[in-house]
Amino acid sequence: MTGDSERRVSALVERYVPAVRERMRASLPEGGGALFDILRYHLGWQDSEGWPVDEDAGKGLRPVLALASCEMAGGRWPDALPAAAALELIHNFSLLHDDIQDGDATRRGRPTAWTVYGVHPALAAGNAMRVVADLTLLSLSEAGVPSATAKAAAAALTSRYLEMIEGQYLDLSFEESDEVTTNDYLAMVSRKTGALIDCAMLLGCLVATNDLAAAAAFGRCGRELGLAFQVRDDLLGIWGDPAATGKPVGADIRRKKKSMPIVHLFQQANDKEREWLRGAYAADEVAGDDVERVLVMLADRGAREFVQATAAEHADAAVDAVGGLRLPAEAKADISAMADYFIRRDK
Ligand code: IPE
Ligand code: IPE
Ligand code: MG
Ligand code: MG
Repeated sequence: MTGDSERRVSALVERYVPAVRERMRASLPEGGGALFDILRYHLGWQDSEGWPVDEDAGKGLRPVLALASCEMAGGRWPDALPAAAALELIHNFSLLHDDIQDGDATRRGRPTAWTVYGVHPALAAGNAMRVVADLTLLSLSEAGVPSATAKAAAAALTSRYLEMIEGQYLDLSFEESDEVTTNDYLAMVSRKTGALIDCAMLLGCLVATNDLAAAAAFGRCGRELGLAFQVRDDLLGIWGDPAATGKPVGADIRRKKKSMPIVHLFQQANDKEREWLRGAYAADEVAGDDVERVLVMLADRGAREFVQATAAEHADAAVDAVGGLRLPAEAKADISAMADYFIRRDK
């Protein structure tokens, strides 16, 4: 990432994230029973004993994109705060369930909620998080947003997170298939990760302008950013530094995730290699020695370079998606910086 991109993205994060966290806290008032302890634990606000802490709560990229899009489109960003907070809550709902579904014991460098509270309580916490998000979005009209806009925003958020849930379903179903193509993979990721980032940029612009066509262009930009983001995430899932990603090394391979490098490998392997891969992936988990061999095969097939090039293509497409809009030069520079950050980040 160039120094300029890094500075721009940090400036956006510093500008918006504190207000988002405050708005999220207002959605989840003190007390509320034991179920809500799990939500606060997951969000890094309290430890497993209930003591207040200030742990890593995630990067906050979806709300940052929503509020930045609102300003880029000429709006007042505080008007979009309920939408930004709702997006981050939906994202965290997906993570609570995802960690159970992926069997992951670590998230953001801490034990995942299900390992602390149990699977059923963590499932309930995820559902509660989703409903808190819905309620948060309802307060858009209280913030002075016209009711027709608030209604369109609710329809957009709900349909996008339905897409996200379908993407998650597809992702999990791919674990049991050796026939996944790169196109199947991209269609899944467009839903799993693209839909919510699309929604972030769409909602920001919608609150600012109530212009559905402009909001759709922002949404297309977000969708491409989401693809770039997830493809880079898959790269980090295999070659990332665990200290930066907060996730153990090799976990994606062991868990048979059909992440983009693996999909590429299955497609590029010769018959003999594919037969070996099918055998390794027939077990419940890919065995330790087999993980090592998969890493060697990935290197032989240039998987890392292929995946990085794919991320860069989608980052370029994101910038192109808003190319036709009359936006201030600063806005276009911020979008380019975000696209650059998405494909170069280590965390
Ligand atoms: C993680 O998203 C899940 C994916 C879509 C890859 P983030 O990397 O945005 O998660 P946090 O919120 O910053 O931890
Ligand atoms: C997270 O996906 C869930 C959604 C995006 C809906 P992943 O399983 O790919 O992300 P990490 O690696 O656990 O953060
Ligand atoms: Mg997952
Ligand atoms: Mg996961």
